[in-house]
Amino acid sequence: MPMEYRIRTTPAEALATDCLIAVVFSKGKLDETTTSLDKATGGLIKESLRDGDLSGNSGEFLILHRPPGLKARRLMLLGVGDEKSFGAKALAGALASAVKELDRTGSREVALPMPGKLETVYPAAKRLVIRAEEALYRFQECKSKKESPKHPLRKLILLESDAGRRKQLRKGLDQGRAIANGMALARNLANLPGNICTPTHLANEAKKLGRRFDKLKVSALTEKQMEKLGMGALLSVSRGSRQEARLIVMEYRGGKPGQRPVVLVGKGLTFDAGGISLKPSANMDEMKYDMCGGASVIGTIQACAELALPVNLVGIVPSSENLPDGNANKPGDIVTSMSGLTIEVLNTDAEGRLILCDALTYAERFKPAVVIDIATLTGACIVALGHHISGLLGNDDTLVEEVARAGEAVDDPAWRLPMGEDYQKQLESNFADIANIGGRSAGTITAACFLSRFTEKYKWAHLDIAGTAWKSGKEKGATGRPVPLLTEFLLRRCKRVS
Ligand code: BES
Ligand code: MN
Ligand code: ZN
Repeated sequence: MPMEYRIRTTPAEALATDCLIAVVFSKGKLDETTTSLDKATGGLIKESLRDGDLSGNSGEFLILHRPPGLKARRLMLLGVGDEKSFGAKALAGALASAVKELDRTGSREVALPMPGKLETVYPAAKRLVIRAEEALYRFQECKSKKESPKHPLRKLILLESDAGRRKQLRKGLDQGRAIANGMALARNLANLPGNICTPTHLANEAKKLGRRFDKLKVSALTEKQMEKLGMGALLSVSRGSRQEARLIVMEYRGGKPGQRPVVLVGKGLTFDAGGISLKPSANMDEMKYDMCGGASVIGTIQACAELALPVNLVGIVPSSENLPDGNANKPGDIVTSMSGLTIEVLNTDAEGRLILCDALTYAERFKPAVVIDIATLTGACIVALGHHISGLLGNDDTLVEEVARAGEAVDDPAWRLPMGEDYQKQLESNFADIANIGGRSAGTITAACFLSRFTEKYKWAHLDIAGTAWKSGKEKGATGRPVPLLTEFLLRRCKRVS
């Protein structure tokens, strides 16, 4: 359940709350608000810093009980890093570690005076909610005993005396909450295992969302319907699985009737074993996350519907499993896509592009303003960009830049990689129109080149989220990315940012 977010004008000293936050910069430097809190407490903050209990580095904190001179039961000194580079991002990052600790301990409510150093508070409010909800997220759907902290953190109060800034805060909080909810939905869907989250399950969850909003219509094509449309590439992947494939179609009509929609296409592989080109077994469980692109589309549509954005938006999620079976694709098989292009399947593990290409052709019928596809497409993208930044490619410079700027604005970055004729040549096939792999080098680029053969009729951008959609190891779990980037992209198109 998301926290409650409030904005109040009460002076920090006078607010009765479980915990009041005072931000501290690196090397113990203080801003005006914290300096006045220090005075109110008779020098408690400076004394703690002098004693060496906190240095002000980002994410460090110190909780002091019953601070004298304040109405709050606790005072949390929160390190926010270097004073010069302080901004919305630094504040939100530090707050994320603060709320985690407060959720674990006794506070149910926390108050943060908005630092005067922030020139604008809208971007900060948006990021604060995103990062706080991200930090408090827990996935327990599959545990028989649900655990919850004894005193969960339920409320965040932002203190701001300026009326203009309060208006900006409200807007940022509302948008941030919709984004955070969209991320949580995407994470819930993605964290479910492959035996529960099948293509049919994913379609049912999307339909549930359709029933929640008047302006949202959701349907799902069956394999029979896809056959009629000639989706031979998509269906060839699904042939090796006992679960039926689905093509989920979500139409959100918030804009003017004839306005061309933004179309989002998300890879929805509910489990990718590689097929006959079987993957090695180490960490193969993580291939339940191969539907994170699709989950991010569903999460983004929820965010836009919650905000009632005046935009026309279509989400398409081709969903299938990729398993080895007597009926599965074999290396060398040639399949015919909906576009008519024939494809030589040289590696059955390059299945994402096979299901996406038919979905991208299907997208043409919506006469899109732009199309963005989102896919955990290549391991090569992790080699190139690691787990911090998504890969970004496309056929339209303006659109690609627009996508990159949106990601930057909400700390959900994507970095452009090149494309071009030299790379396209790597896809040549002796037997079909194209091969589904382009050799060892530039794997992320040749995958995008493959998709580009099916996106010639519209402006298109591609996000490869193989490295950013989930975390491995001790913190294993979906991240909800790139719901922030995509929602921000749409907010900007609707001129709802400031
Ligand atoms: N879903 C994988 C990509 C992937 C791998 C994402 C590891 C995250 C972590 C995709 O279907 C795949 O298997 N791609 C192959 C392509 C290759 C056969 C050209 C890959 O990246 O190895
Ligand atoms: Mn694969
Ligand atoms: Zn895959």
